[in-house]
Amino acid sequence: MRPITHTSAKQLIPVANKPVLFYGLEAIRDAGIREVGIIVGSTAPEIERAVGDGSQFGLDVTYLPQDAPRGLGHAVLIARDFLGEDDFVMYLGDNFVVGGISDAVQRFRREQPHAQLMLTRVKDPHAFGIAEMGPDGQVIGVEEKPRYPKSDLALVGVYVFSPAVHEAIAELKPSWRNELEITDAIQWLIDHGRRIESTIITGFWKDTGSLADMLEMNRFVLESLDSEVRGDVSADTEMTGRVVIGPGAVISGSRIVGPVVVGAGSIIRNSLLGPFTSVDCDCTIINSEIEQSIVLRGAFIDGVGGIEWSMIGREARLITGPRVPKTYRFVLGDHSEVRVSV
Ligand code: G1P
Repeated sequence: MRPITHTSAKQLIPVANKPVLFYGLEAIRDAGIREVGIIVGSTAPEIERAVGDGSQFGLDVTYLPQDAPRGLGHAVLIARDFLGEDDFVMYLGDNFVVGGISDAVQRFRREQPHAQLMLTRVKDPHAFGIAEMGPDGQVIGVEEKPRYPKSDLALVGVYVFSPAVHEAIAELKPSWRNELEITDAIQWLIDHGRRIESTIITGFWKDTGSLADMLEMNRFVLESLDSEVRGDVSADTEMTGRVVIGPGAVISGSRIVGPVVVGAGSIIRNSLLGPFTSVDCDCTIINSEIEQSIVLRGAFIDGVGGIEWSMIGREARLITGPRVPKTYRFVLGDHSEVRVSV
């Protein structure tokens, strides 16, 4: 997702105009949890600005700085004092689980295992932590990004732990990628006879690691929105499907094909928008066509048709040049990708 992530925390990229991280915080709150420690790295100021003290979510948030990405095991290690002797949920800030985590948390409270995992079937088991299942459906092993996966059941980035995990973490050695792996801690618990429970989820889950993941989550979330028009939509605009228009947005001479969300204060004129498109606040889109895309706050797009499967950064400008000569002028951030159909 570079260059967007050069200037912004990945977890704050908006999906249906809401940062990915907020979906996780809401799921945690809905599971009846109030105290949250957020492990923050170099993007700490931005995360703190967005989440604040957590009261907007009904949470009480503490920030726990991590000097470098040293692994999920390390994240638990530095949260040791914050966690005390409590049971806890570890929720990876870039994960999105439809249906939330309330069932998993309730089951943990009921059955009191040492750790409880969420698993889901994946097509690319090399890219995740993978569970090996025993004959009775219990987890008998876990392996991080295995070369020879023992199943297609990936560890979803939501774990419920008892304080027994701290014992395991104290024994960890850095992995080949120089991280303290949470999978190694889980393996330690298994090897030492601790009780591990797991649930296989079948609903939508995304670890939003790439543009394709973000766009997929965007499609999914948009599909469940309830239409709501609070902005100003002129009579010469045609709207179909689920459409959310924020306050102060002005839409004219356009065709909006839902599901689409347009943020507060954005201007859409003479354009075709959607389906599956999120336009954040204060954007301007004129004489353009855009679908299956995420447009971040303050972007300006004028005269460009056929935009699809795209993410347009904050305050980015996408405009036309002269017809003759037919040339392209780019100012692209580091690691940008542009596809030009010729
Ligand atoms: C992490 C975990 C992995 C898990 C994945 C889920 O991977 O290490 O076991 O399957 O999250 O999102 P990472 O994001 O560190 O590559």
